[in-house]
Amino acid sequence: MLAIIGGSGLSQLSNMEVRRRKAMRTPYGEPSGALSLGAIAGREVLFLARHGYGHTIPPHRVNYRANLWSLAAEGVTAVVSVASVGGIRADLLPGVIAVPAQIIDYTHGRRSTFFDGDDQRVNHVDFTEPYDRALRQGCIEAARAAGEAVVEGGVYAATQGPRLETAAEIDRLERDGAHMVGMTGMPEAALARELGLPYAAIAVVANTAAGRGASVQGVHMEDINRVLQEAMGRVRRILEKLAQSHGG
Ligand code: HPA
Repeated sequence: MLAIIGGSGLSQLSNMEVRRRKAMRTPYGEPSGALSLGAIAGREVLFLARHGYGHTIPPHRVNYRANLWSLAAEGVTAVVSVASVGGIRADLLPGVIAVPAQIIDYTHGRRSTFFDGDDQRVNHVDFTEPYDRALRQGCIEAARAAGEAVVEGGVYAATQGPRLETAAEIDRLERDGAHMVGMTGMPEAALARELGLPYAAIAVVANTAAGRGASVQGVHMEDINRVLQEAMGRVRRILEKLAQSHGG
């Protein structure tokens, strides 16, 4: 079964037939909300709103461990994250959808591993390719099947938030090799890997990153919300095709 974690602009899936909601408790606390179990295009899927269904949990306070643990406990076989980003690379303009291939992690102070107990052995997961290759390809093919353009690849920089970046920080991220910037990609991807869950992201460019292009004078939330509202319609169509190809 495919799990979808929805970010800003996607706290519910209008094309999902929700059959039941399930509140979960995990050894790591409670996830962002009850899991929604149901179907998209007749295929079983599970949906979780990363920021809570009322969008009340900021990126640095999301219980990423409880979220991923609860998905694994439900037996999901893949996790697709939908996340909004700021575009750093010139072609990543508002409204563009990308399937990133790499991550640089700038977050701090988040509970970022399942392997930090005294009673557990030291465990270093391989993270050379942070996203699952086959699932990324599945997202790209689903977009093709849905007739929606996506940018293939790119480097996602995960920042701490909740504030947006300074113009100089964006310049630095670019020098580091980042193409887009968001606040929730980590530790989510690493935790999925620790649990052995294939994970990929569909990144929706909500705005040009701080100090660039239309954001030279600042980043405005009204603009972001307008862009996301339109783009999530396209994301839903992609998810429909992905669910169909995922079976279940
Ligand atoms: N920076 C960080 N996270 C974001 C942005 C941004 O510009 N836009 C949407 N999420």
